[in-house]
Amino acid sequence: MKTISQLIGCGSYLPQNVVTNDDLAKKVDTSDEWIIARTGIKQRHFASDDEYTSDLALKAAQRALEHAGVDGTEIDLIVVGTTTPDRTFPATAVRLQKHLGCRTGAAFDVQAVCSGFVYALAVVDSMIQSGQAKTALVVGAETISRLLNWKDRTTCVLFGDGAGAVVVKAVEVEEQTNGQAGIISTHIHSDGNLEELLYCDGGPSTTQTAGYLTMAGKEVFRHAVTNLAAVVNEALEANNLQDSDIDWLVPHQANKRIIDSTAKKLKMPMDKVILTVEDHANTSAASIPLALDHGVREGLIKRGDLLLMEAMGGGLTWGAALVRW
Ligand code: ACO
Repeated sequence: MKTISQLIGCGSYLPQNVVTNDDLAKKVDTSDEWIIARTGIKQRHFASDDEYTSDLALKAAQRALEHAGVDGTEIDLIVVGTTTPDRTFPATAVRLQKHLGCRTGAAFDVQAVCSGFVYALAVVDSMIQSGQAKTALVVGAETISRLLNWKDRTTCVLFGDGAGAVVVKAVEVEEQTNGQAGIISTHIHSDGNLEELLYCDGGPSTTQTAGYLTMAGKEVFRHAVTNLAAVVNEALEANNLQDSDIDWLVPHQANKRIIDSTAKKLKMPMDKVILTVEDHANTSAASIPLALDHGVREGLIKRGDLLLMEAMGGGLTWGAALVRW
């Protein structure tokens, strides 16, 4: 017998405050045309001043638990992918644990910026397979708006806030096959030599402030296209799968042009790609579970579909996960 990880429910939450490109153009030297042409983004959601990452995470987690039919007290592992924790410590995951009324198991954050959800899923999958958890919550939650420098128009127009969550359950099988519902494989990478391309210029140990997000956009774009193509191929080859076996690409939503490029390399028509970047912008670790939840609730993603998730973010970090929904 083997223990595998099944995704049994998902949920998401977006703050109510919607900011369009035209709204941004009132305070930043930019335009709706420029933002749409370069990124595909039309609007984003921003958390209010008294709404924290754990608040967004809680709403997404509650919806995922309801969708899965699981009570919060059954959860024995919570992993939150976030770059914008409520506090320097404790982890946002333990605050979420408290809000959910859970007392057992472990809760911690994973910091891999925009790849945070894929990293968190990889960690949870390993812990479930090794018997360390039975029912886990994997969350991507961000208030990335708090790190935006409104004097830097090359970055401040690209991001939004939000949260997404999945419930992952341990299931015993005779042997794992690609046809079974569950996480088939995860693939994570990083290259710290590329830190200067995308980073936040603050931190408890350096400036004692949160700092501002800084990015060399063109170079990040170039690395994203190359690394994402490589990691999706790695995921397919590891499982003897072809491009045509994938039912849905559920990519990190940073930029429509990066997503187009990955879909083209996979020879996937765009109607097989879940796209939310237009309405959500780049929500960092939250973007994949937000896109997944959108796909499921819109009736696009159905039980039994093969999903390929992929992301790249600061670090640089990148990764992919193959999941049979
Ligand atoms: N509005 C209007 N004009 C702008 C803006 C703006 N918001 N920002 C830059 N410009 C101008 C620049 O000043 C420049 O003007 P110039 O030619 O007169 O000097 C011109 O537009 C082109 O600027 P570039 O920086 O060369 O624009 P580029 O085509 O590279 O697009 C972008 C910028 C959208 C940031 C692109 O590089 C990109 O998408 N990079 C990847 C970013 C990304 O996806 N990051 C996320 C991955 S990791 C993560 O999710 C954290």
